[in-house]
Amino acid sequence: MKQNKLTALWTTLVVSLFAVPVSVFAQKNITPQKMADAIFAVIESDRTVYTRNVVNRLQNEEEVLTAEEHWQEEQALPLPAQMLRMGAERVNEKDAGFTYALLSLWPINKQNKPKTELEKKGLEHAAKNGKNFYGEEKLGKKTYFTAVYPDVAVSEACVKCHNEHIDTPRKDFKLGDVMGGVVIRIPLD
Ligand code: HEC
Repeated sequence: MKQNKLTALWTTLVVSLFAVPVSVFAQKNITPQKMADAIFAVIESDRTVYTRNVVNRLQNEEEVLTAEEHWQEEQALPLPAQMLRMGAERVNEKDAGFTYALLSLWPINKQNKPKTELEKKGLEHAAKNGKNFYGEEKLGKKTYFTAVYPDVAVSEACVKCHNEHIDTPRKDFKLGDVMGGVVIRIPLD
């Protein structure tokens, strides 16, 4: 009887010793996809808030400031795409464990076209299906997890400005079209 109780005690102790690290591990087990999805949620929210509550409000509702490509010279607001790039450049400087960019198969700025096969595939997938794309790619000696999220023409302003821009390679964007994608890249090694 005494022996049985002791065995039960030991079993409980051993099981709980294992259970604690397993549950901690489960909580810490953030996959690259979960991390990319979380980063994208922040990027997308900031992009929408800036477009709606700063650009749209000041430019279209209160009509006190416009958003211009040459915003410094024109004392105007930076375009939403420029805001995103300035943020991405700061993250790059910090060596934060990931990088991101806003790219397109039909870019106004040629620097925003896909540079790797996977980026191109992801942008094509996003444009065709309107869905996220996930993959792995080897660049140099490193392997990366790369995610591409569709960037949608949510307002007429997106369509109008892009279709009419002097440098645009595409003039038939419509409301709701996928115009490009946010690419998030996380090194796996
Ligand atoms: C007033 C003009 C204007 C508006 C409005 C605008 N864009 Fe752009 N967009 C640009 C310019 C100019 C660039 C290039 C900026 C750069 O990288 O220097 C750009 C860049 C982009 C890019 C990266 C590829 C490229 O074309 O260089 C995407 C994708 C994009 N915009 C989507 C959108 C979406 C979606 C909206 C609406 C939410 C939008 N844009 C609103 C002018 C505009």
